[in-house]
Amino acid sequence: MALIETHPRLRVRQESPLNAEPAPGDLIESFRTPNDLFFIRSHGNIPTVDAGTYRLTIDGLVESPLSLSLADLRRFPRITAGATLQCAGNRRRELIEFAPIPNELPWGSEAISNAEWSGVPLREVLAAAGPKSGALHVAFLGLDETERHGHRFQFGGSIPLEKATHPEVLLADTMNGEPLPPAHGAPVRVVIPGYIGARSVKWISRITLQEAPSDNYFQAKAYRLFPASTGPDDVDWDSGLMLGEAPVNSVICSPVSGDRLPAGRVTVRGWAMAGGGREIARVDVSADGGKTWKTAELGAGGSGWTWRFWQAPLDLAPGEQEIVCRAFDSAAQTQPAHPSQVWNFKGYANNAWHRVRVVCG
Ligand code: MTE
Repeated sequence: MALIETHPRLRVRQESPLNAEPAPGDLIESFRTPNDLFFIRSHGNIPTVDAGTYRLTIDGLVESPLSLSLADLRRFPRITAGATLQCAGNRRRELIEFAPIPNELPWGSEAISNAEWSGVPLREVLAAAGPKSGALHVAFLGLDETERHGHRFQFGGSIPLEKATHPEVLLADTMNGEPLPPAHGAPVRVVIPGYIGARSVKWISRITLQEAPSDNYFQAKAYRLFPASTGPDDVDWDSGLMLGEAPVNSVICSPVSGDRLPAGRVTVRGWAMAGGGREIARVDVSADGGKTWKTAELGAGGSGWTWRFWQAPLDLAPGEQEIVCRAFDSAAQTQPAHPSQVWNFKGYANNAWHRVRVVCG
């Protein structure tokens, strides 16, 4: 098991398994999140993988099953592209403030980061294996192990074959120009831009083409969305919506709740991210809890696979103020006003308006 020393400014939410998120201010410091400040979401151990003996298996409904060494993998054409990863549990703490969510990590709003990834497009490797007719899903299996209900198993998940053949889906071995760090999946991970982070399987060891989605716990039970009326005791796991494309989201990173500011003009700054390759079309900011809105100025980005920073000058009156933001994506979809509208017992996909309470004067 790899021993990971985390950056002192990374906020460790859990030591084992290791889960950590950066501070809001660090997040908007640079468009590409430095590797040592990139959020870490792990469900099991961080495996130490020997690059010399590493093999990636491609099997299932394929004409030619493959077993690729790192050298084999690096003989495929490569690309470099930006992609933002966001955990489906990002912003769970706000859902917990509405109603309890036991046994899940209380993520703040920083379980999101952006990097430039280099690697082999997954479709190149799939083409070499030759998908057979009947293959509809691509299942991934990592080398890490976790335990649920007395069973030990490896982390996994799947995406539809149709998404896997898109050029942005990568088997990445490089993150921001450096070899992939152990905590982020060394030597190779999957990167599925536009999808919830859980599908970007780290320490990838096996890719299986199959008729149905993965039956791995993290696809079949976790990372599914249930109605607010469903709880852990009456859940029918099969009825949950399997999370794939992420919903449009935005967060205020500066100021942060609890800040004391002089009344008057303040520059409000944050990030916005759309799912499924859609772009961020607009971000609105309100100084009166959402009664009136001002359009924010959008920063660089906008490929649809990466976040966009934004900023807006707001005039704040003396006293306690609530600053709110909401984003619109290129399909004109926006965010719901309250966590109550999206609350679910696993605490996923919170994209309610983000609210920050400050004291001015
Ligand atoms: N892959 C493996 N093998 N094990 C994991 O626990 N966590 C997933 C995904 N891939 C996970 C994994 C989740 S839930 C997220 S949000 C992203 O990895 C986080 O990637 P990061 O740790 O590089 O930020």
